[in-house]
Amino acid sequence: MYQSWDELESNCKGCTKCGLCETRNHVVVGVGNRNAEVMFIGEGPGENEDLQGEPFVGRGGQLLDKMLNAVDLDRNKNIYIANIVKCRPPQNRDPLQEEQDACIDWLRNQVLLLKPKIIVCLGRIAGMKIIKPDLKITKEHGVFYEKNGIFMMATLHPAALLRNPAQKPGAFEDFLKLRDKIKEICDHTYTQND
Ligand code: URA
Ligand code: SF4
Repeated sequence: MYQSWDELESNCKGCTKCGLCETRNHVVVGVGNRNAEVMFIGEGPGENEDLQGEPFVGRGGQLLDKMLNAVDLDRNKNIYIANIVKCRPPQNRDPLQEEQDACIDWLRNQVLLLKPKIIVCLGRIAGMKIIKPDLKITKEHGVFYEKNGIFMMATLHPAALLRNPAQKPGAFEDFLKLRDKIKEICDHTYTQND
């Protein structure tokens, strides 16, 4: 385990623990405030993320930023965003179980350093890996689970919302529930004093 973010980032950027290292352009470690109380976890980089080295920078990322901003969250201010796998799966296929297992220690280390109060999983893959293997995203999005002292919920993946805009209102309700939970248990997310 790395004790500092800089050490973690530089080692993660050289990782060759799974086959995804062979086709990546950038390792997408994460973005945001290293003192954030709220952490978002996606599935893995897509094409734009692989080219730019930052999570959620394509069309899905723009939608995510809009939904975040609607509840006063901002990737450059009061949250941290990472993914289950840090390198892009070819053709954006789902990351294989073995790839997720190879990569998960990086995310564990990020969680240990960040010590988030709330984790929001973006989509089914992250929800199943982080919350519970049998998570049903369509039924259980927006539901908070408490695990190891951290409140966790899954919401619909922004790419799924782009494919199926009818699901947007439901996803937006999840963000309103998130705002309420932040107001209830977080100290500085909405008061920018760090
Ligand atoms: N989808 C994800 O799950 N993560 C990203 O970083 C981009 C798209
Ligand atoms: Fe390493 Fe994760 Fe990239 Fe695989 S996906 S090479 S485990 S950083």
